[in-house]
Amino acid sequence: MSTHAKQKRLSTASIRAMKGRDRVVCLTAYTTPIARLLDPYCDLLLVGDSLGMVLYGMDTTASVSLDMMTAHGRAVMRGVERACVIVDLPFGSYQVSKECAFENALRLMQDTGCDGVKLKGGEEMAETVEFLVARGIPVFGHIGLMPQLVNTAGGFRSMEHSDAEAEKIRRDAAAIEQAGAFALVIEGTVESLAREITTSLFVPTIGVGASVACDGQVLVADDMFGLFDDFKFVKRFAELGLLVSSAVQGHALEVRDGPGARACKCV
Ligand code: KIV
Repeated sequence: MSTHAKQKRLSTASIRAMKGRDRVVCLTAYTTPIARLLDPYCDLLLVGDSLGMVLYGMDTTASVSLDMMTAHGRAVMRGVERACVIVDLPFGSYQVSKECAFENALRLMQDTGCDGVKLKGGEEMAETVEFLVARGIPVFGHIGLMPQLVNTAGGFRSMEHSDAEAEKIRRDAAAIEQAGAFALVIEGTVESLAREITTSLFVPTIGVGASVACDGQVLVADDMFGLFDDFKFVKRFAELGLLVSSAVQGHALEVRDGPGARACKCV
């Protein structure tokens, strides 16, 4: 028998309880090796449907399937010991009916072993969130700019809101909290609105491009590593893309001009 006691991972309830006490550190993860690297430093790991764009080169997240989310959810679960893991319900898997949303969320949780699901939407999704939570599925809400709705929203755009949009985001936040979400991503929102919503809610707000006023922050990890360029809100903490290019150039140079190549030319 192993002498190492297995560490208990953070639950969605413990993430909720961080409100007003500790700030929540959240990053996306899609694979086992990256999950292993992020796990010691993160409270929450999100297997986001951004993987469609980041890993698969899709233009938007709209074509990401439940099978893709399941495969990457499983991969991330193999790499964690501490962090709470949430997997995105992809576009189309929760909008048809709340019963269908429950079936897909249950499948995602059973097939991956993750701690809960995230779904995007405000007031219009509140009934579905309530239905899932009442049946034992922890839900991470997501309001503000919706990457999945990029087609109807007319593309990714800046964070300035009209008064009507700001009012809708306020109502969305209140509705999703009331429906029972354990926490809420706020995406692409100005600081004053993020602060107002954060102060008014009892659950943590996790910002992405929504200012420091939120209770925690989530970033697309590949983006902050400097491996992916398409998301615009992200502070880069490294330039791994440049390191990879330089490593590949070193390898190419060695193969083409190194000792093996010289021996080849001498023959
Ligand atoms: O899919 C994703 O990675 C996300 C984050 C941007 C919050 O939803």
